[in-house]
Amino acid sequence: MSTDATTLDIETGATAVAHPNMALIKYWGKRDRDLILPVTGSLSMTLDIFPTTTRVRVGEQEADTIALDGRPADEVTTRRVTGFLRLVRDITGRHEAAAVDSVNSVPTGAGLASSASGFAALAAAACAAYDHSLPPRELSRLARRGSGSACRSVFGDFVVWHPGDSRPPRDDLGSYAEPVPAGDFDPAMVIAIVDGGGKAVSSRKAMQHTVETSPFYLPWAAGIAADLERMRAAIGRGDLQEVGRIAEHNALSMHATMLAARPAVRYLQAGTLAVLDAVAALRAGGIDAYATIDAGPNVAVLCDPRDEIRVARAVSELPDVSATHIAHRGPGTTVTAGAAA
Ligand code: PMV
Repeated sequence: MSTDATTLDIETGATAVAHPNMALIKYWGKRDRDLILPVTGSLSMTLDIFPTTTRVRVGEQEADTIALDGRPADEVTTRRVTGFLRLVRDITGRHEAAAVDSVNSVPTGAGLASSASGFAALAAAACAAYDHSLPPRELSRLARRGSGSACRSVFGDFVVWHPGDSRPPRDDLGSYAEPVPAGDFDPAMVIAIVDGGGKAVSSRKAMQHTVETSPFYLPWAAGIAADLERMRAAIGRGDLQEVGRIAEHNALSMHATMLAARPAVRYLQAGTLAVLDAVAALRAGGIDAYATIDAGPNVAVLCDPRDEIRVARAVSELPDVSATHIAHRGPGTTVTAGAAA
């Protein structure tokens, strides 16, 4: 095969690594579905487990190809990822097709979402592969267009995602993520995997349905700004009890909005409630442990790292808990190889 100088010039590739994040104040509900603009702000902890590694090569083929864990992606994922690549090409002014190869280290069947780490890694690797440098804030705005919560995985440790200004003109300039000063606050997060198979309803569909039909949605959203302020202050002074209390209230009240939707969206299972009981029992026994639950049956328990083994043991003894993982605060998205991000 002959290669000329032009071909060599446009052939390039880049690899990026991103970690999942767990929201302590949840993103639940969009005010703009095209731009993925949230109704409220949210705040999360980036985790140090289960990174996604994504390699993007450009200029080697006619059309985009997407491989996940070594296999071609299904149709829905391919459509979502190629739509995102079109957006990256609009921003970077490039037009070559891309080959995306993404490897997720979440154990299969663990029931943990990977869209946040997936789109954060894809945004960084694709920009780098197209030789386009974006400051982290702009990278977070881009990752947000793939999956809302992905904007928070661009940064490490504690991260806030600003909802942006809902007044005209319609733009997304104010909706980005940024780090929250956290000093040496370094709690543990014990993730209890509750058996339950795949997600019945995607978070994307469930949040829209909740916004449209739940009478509890607006009252829930109205309380978020004040909780965000209290949460930021509590993180800054390393107040685990206050962080935990706000996070647990936020998650349970988010699930209450879903239970009041018509028809109800119920992610909570018997095993989920058993973990909540175990967390309450730990607290009654003097351990600072607080639960948060995403759009699924699994429970993440926030606690002092000195208590993490005890907490993990208590939840892993429950019959419906199939595995536990212990996480701490983790790093932001990095480009590990290829053109500069
Ligand atoms: O980013 P999405 O569309 O996967 O939605 C995430 C929704 C929650 O995980 C339930 C909350 C959050 O803030 O991460």
